[in-house]
Amino acid sequence: MNDTFLKACRGEKTDYTPVWFMRQAGRYLPEYQAVRGKVSFLELCKNPELCTEVTLQPIDIFGFDAAILFSDILIAMEAMGLTLEFHEGRGPVFPDPVRSQAAVDALIIPDPEETMPFVMETIKLLRKELKVPLIGFSGAPFTLATYLIEGGSSKVFLETKRMAFQAPELYHNLLDKITRCTSLYLQAQARAGAQALQIFDSWAGIWAPGDFERFALPYVQSIITDLRKMTDIPIIYFANNGSTLIDHSKNAGADVLGLDWRLNIGDAVDRVGDHAVQGNLDPIALFLPPDELEKRIKQLLVDASSAKGHIFNLGHGILPQTSPDQAKIAVDAVHRFSRK
Ligand code: CP3
Repeated sequence: MNDTFLKACRGEKTDYTPVWFMRQAGRYLPEYQAVRGKVSFLELCKNPELCTEVTLQPIDIFGFDAAILFSDILIAMEAMGLTLEFHEGRGPVFPDPVRSQAAVDALIIPDPEETMPFVMETIKLLRKELKVPLIGFSGAPFTLATYLIEGGSSKVFLETKRMAFQAPELYHNLLDKITRCTSLYLQAQARAGAQALQIFDSWAGIWAPGDFERFALPYVQSIITDLRKMTDIPIIYFANNGSTLIDHSKNAGADVLGLDWRLNIGDAVDRVGDHAVQGNLDPIALFLPPDELEKRIKQLLVDASSAKGHIFNLGHGILPQTSPDQAKIAVDAVHRFSRK
């Protein structure tokens, strides 16, 4: 078992810098497209054999040091009793947005093993196959809430912020229910065999720091407090677009802070040095000529060299337009340049 990733999460010495990419299983891979050509995205997410296959693809092709369970953050929201659809080219849609106390009351707090057995089954299948650690994940309650309140993806998050500002009690009741669901869901993933957990807060960056502290962070802290009572596996908190929030997000309780590319990783280490850090190459750097891509990777490794632990990653998900050849160049460069 290659445990370089877990060691880096715990701040222990490693022979080289471990690397994985957010969204490493996905549309930029012809091998993924071939599987996806046969089933819808939601069918894929609910089929443990196919989920196992697409999770393994990038590990076999590129030699990543960690695998991330193939699923989606919104699967657990469907389990709360909501209708979820994925529309080609438009992304996720909740046809019945959650904007009233009655709609919040109608949400159930699902037993994850009963309502999402396919996730637990995928984790068990993967643990039999993998020689690198398996990362489980969820959305952060606030990021999940944006999809429920807006009814899908959004640019300005008017309905979400309006609820938080004008009806804080309703907002809290909704977030509290999502938090309880997410906490149980992550605990179930750990029981099934996940060896680390990442909490994706993709939209954290829409908040002013004081509002982030009030409307997003406490729910993440609550989940991590629950997790600490039942497991000591590493927990990664990724607050996307969060460089202005780092003095708050470092208090989430996570072992590892995921960083987007808008902050120099060395500056981040100066501010959150008691954490391991994960990141933070601009995903579009993968479109640079190979020699320039490698130069950036070398510099990033130098910038992060004083970190307690560094897990190399992109600053957000790999784009579908990325060339797999460039991903391979990047992974090899991280391994080559960082080897002691
Ligand atoms: O390889 C991996 O990272 C594991 C799989 C994974 C997916 N989604 C698969 C997916 C993970 C970890 C996610 C997390 C996720 N899902 C997030 C947080 C991460 C981030 O990018 O900020 C969010 C916000 C979602 C919600 C979501 N799912 C959206 C907005 C969309 C549509 C936009 C898009 O990229 O297409 C999805 C669909 C989705 N999730 C796809 C994949 C591979 C594409 C579906 C397809 O095959 O058509």
